[in-house]
Amino acid sequence: MFTEFAKAGMAHVHAAPLNGDAHLSVISRDDFTEAYDEITSWQGYAPTPLYHLSDLAGALGLQDIIYKDEGPRFGLGSFKALGGAYAGLLVLARELSARLGKDVDPNDIRAGLYRDDVARITLVSATDGNHGRSLAWGAQNFGAACQIYIHRDVSEGRAQAMRDLGAEVTRVDGDYDASVDQVRRDADANGWFVVSDTSWEGYTQPPRDVMAGYGVMAVEITEKLDKPPTHIFVQGGVGGLAAAMAAGLRQYWGKETPRVVVVEPELAACLFASARQGALTNVAIGEETLMAGLSCGEPSPLAWKVLREEAQDFLTIPESLVAPAMRLAGRPVGSDPSIRAGESAIAGFAAVIAAASQAKLREDLGLGPQAKVLVIGSEGATDPEIYNRLMEI
Ligand SMILES: Cc1ncc(COP(=O)(O)O)c(C=O)c1O
Repeated sequence: MFTEFAKAGMAHVHAAPLNGDAHLSVISRDDFTEAYDEITSWQGYAPTPLYHLSDLAGALGLQDIIYKDEGPRFGLGSFKALGGAYAGLLVLARELSARLGKDVDPNDIRAGLYRDDVARITLVSATDGNHGRSLAWGAQNFGAACQIYIHRDVSEGRAQAMRDLGAEVTRVDGDYDASVDQVRRDADANGWFVVSDTSWEGYTQPPRDVMAGYGVMAVEITEKLDKPPTHIFVQGGVGGLAAAMAAGLRQYWGKETPRVVVVEPELAACLFASARQGALTNVAIGEETLMAGLSCGEPSPLAWKVLREEAQDFLTIPESLVAPAMRLAGRPVGSDPSIRAGESAIAGFAAVIAAASQAKLREDLGLGPQAKVLVIGSEGATDPEIYNRLMEI
């Protein structure tokens, strides 16, 4: 049943985690709490589903596979809805506080009390789709202007979704990292405010806020589970999602926290390369991966600070697993629920199935009958055209 998965070429680095306090210091308990209180007060907030894929787990000889489905998040299709919009709101609050010489409350911005001042501020970011959609949505809700930069391979469907939310979208002739560079230059030249999900030297506050926003998922998960899972398989682009989950779950579960396994496409494995080198390492993106949200060659230094202490394993998966994993999510085993999972959502899910189907990885990763594996289904069908094409067989 899992033939493609059993024969998939996977690379694995086991990294002995470092003993440190990055899980508390990079995103503090207060950062997570403030983000949770703010985001859960927004209109349309609802926890996303957490499914137990018991029949799939049984077929793989595992105790449980627990799938957090971020497809329904705020009607935007991915977990990124939690990050960019929230970080954008805090950028507006800080800038207005500085301009007006008083503390401006984000609630009052949302309520429209500073409408004219907000309308004069432009928020900008690079994106491969989902982060930009979140920022565009936030800017539209709060009344700010929004500029979004995409790279040459972002699908037109994803670009249009951001235009539909009022953003001006500029396509850069280069990869994701080139679009980040262009944003930095144009923001300086135009007085725009960068709301990035990745950090760089001297630029850490919005990416920290983005990760704090992602922490909403960790709270929702801990509220639904009595006991910690044994593993979390979580996909990495720049590492923000994985770092937020690792820190948030560790703050809650302490030493009982699940073993953190970071999964990347082999075509964009910058966190894997960093783990192998034992230091932050960039990789060049040659061919673009189908997993568009994970196509990043440069880790976020802030995220890496957490992952080098909290992640025990780094895996890469080949492109050949994307469509089979999406189909398995959509047309599940036995009576498991059917899940509409996008190309970037299934990296962790695909890696669990493949690792559990390969004797050496199964052993190295401790995937036995006691294993309860949490995976983060980080997006739904965010580009329906691509989704439908990949689901066809
Ligand atoms: C659907 C999806 N999953 C995972 C990721 C990876 O998140 P990060 O770049 O924070 O590692 C992204 C990033 O855009 C994404 O869109």
